[in-house]
Amino acid sequence: MTTYETILVETPVDGVGLIRMNRPQALNALNSQITHEIFTAMEMFDRDPSIGCIILTGSDRVFAAGADIKQMLDTTAITMMAGGDFTDWSRMTRIGKPIIAAVSGFALGGGCEIAMMCDMIIASETAQFGQPEINLGILPGAGGTQRLTRAVGKALAMEMCLTDRRLSADEAKHYGLVNAVYPIEVYLNEAIKLGQKVASLSQVAIRLTKDAVNKAFELSLQEGLNYEKRNFYLLFGTEDRTEGMSAFVEKRKPVWKHK
Ligand code: HXC
Repeated sequence: MTTYETILVETPVDGVGLIRMNRPQALNALNSQITHEIFTAMEMFDRDPSIGCIILTGSDRVFAAGADIKQMLDTTAITMMAGGDFTDWSRMTRIGKPIIAAVSGFALGGGCEIAMMCDMIIASETAQFGQPEINLGILPGAGGTQRLTRAVGKALAMEMCLTDRRLSADEAKHYGLVNAVYPIEVYLNEAIKLGQKVASLSQVAIRLTKDAVNKAFELSLQEGLNYEKRNFYLLFGTEDRTEGMSAFVEKRKPVWKHK
């Protein structure tokens, strides 16, 4: 049994693994310990056949206020390169199961970036998204210049990265950064409900679908279409595909075997 110091891990309902960032004294600033624990917990849920969807959340006050500035204070370009600082964030991109960010309060800097590394974002009305790194004399280093630009477009991403323009929850919804906004009392439950929906489906189809959608960010259109077609064909080798189509024809609910 893995023990964690900076996150809380639970299964609030069947099929959904919840990871709660828990460094309240530092507003969940993302030091190397908390990111290591987050990615380790995600990998454990990814390997756990009883889990179909992962949720990453913080507290109602703060999702995460960014990379830990105090930890970065005495680093240099050389120590960063030698230590491969932040390269372990790519562990999250190898998680096969869908990850939902449930965001309330500040999602700034690395906090915004780790939310954008999730597959869907559910926000509370108090959520605030921003890339304030420019105020520190640095730039977003974990996808803020790339994922944000793809999500909200160049003009707004430039404004956010160059001037620390922040997005309210409603603006983030308007610009397509988040899926939905709910009152603070219910946003986490709504994220869990969405996670339950995902977990109730064929895990093998869910995994290949997430994989194909993510390829849209990496490949040309024709390469992406070819990749999608291969995943599509692959699903015709699964028992769940036979079950899903048979259940439709027989007018009953499918019983997924996840294989
Ligand atoms: C370390 C942090 C922190 C951070 C807050 N704290 N953010 N510590 N790193 N990113 C600490 C504060 O120092 C303080 O500790 C405690 O948390 C409470 O913060 P306050 O500032 O007192 O709270 P408040 O006045 O409510 O202001 C909240 C805030 C502000 C607006 C979120 O804390 C803030 O601006 N934080 C920094 C946001 C930021 O610049 N993020 C980008 C980081 S760079 P003490 O000990 O004083 O009580 C980054 C790069 C990513 O993310 C690159 C990845 C490769």
